[in-house]
Amino acid sequence: MPNIKGLSHVAIAVPDLEAAAQALAAKLGINAGPIKENPQQGVRLSYVDLGNARIELIQPISPDSPIAKFLERNPAGGLHHVCFNTEDLDVALAAVTQAGVRQAGKAGLNVHGDRIAFLNPKDVLGALVELEEKHE
Ligand code: CO
Repeated sequence: MPNIKGLSHVAIAVPDLEAAAQALAAKLGINAGPIKENPQQGVRLSYVDLGNARIELIQPISPDSPIAKFLERNPAGGLHHVCFNTEDLDVALAAVTQAGVRQAGKAGLNVHGDRIAFLNPKDVLGALVELEEKHE
């Protein structure tokens, strides 16, 4: 089993990060943190910390980014992926592969330096799932 240990974040793709953060603050009273860039993933992003989980707001900075392609289909933005924590990414990927789930792209790093990987939505209920290695 991939040993999933809870929800890390739910990601919302947005065309304008600053406008999205302002809208969340004005409409829901929740505040996004500092903006960070992840050139490897071709995105800039900001986290809303809700205590038990986070919202990740992501905006593409590269036209090749999968987020840019998502926004072509959904110009106003929308729910993009859900991310679960796992203690060991290699063990988790081996386990899901065994269960017939394909990986989407290569494993990489998030802005915090944690190892991450995405799973093919066709193999997981039509939803894009990210796994994030978190050591407790
Ligand atoms: Co994410």
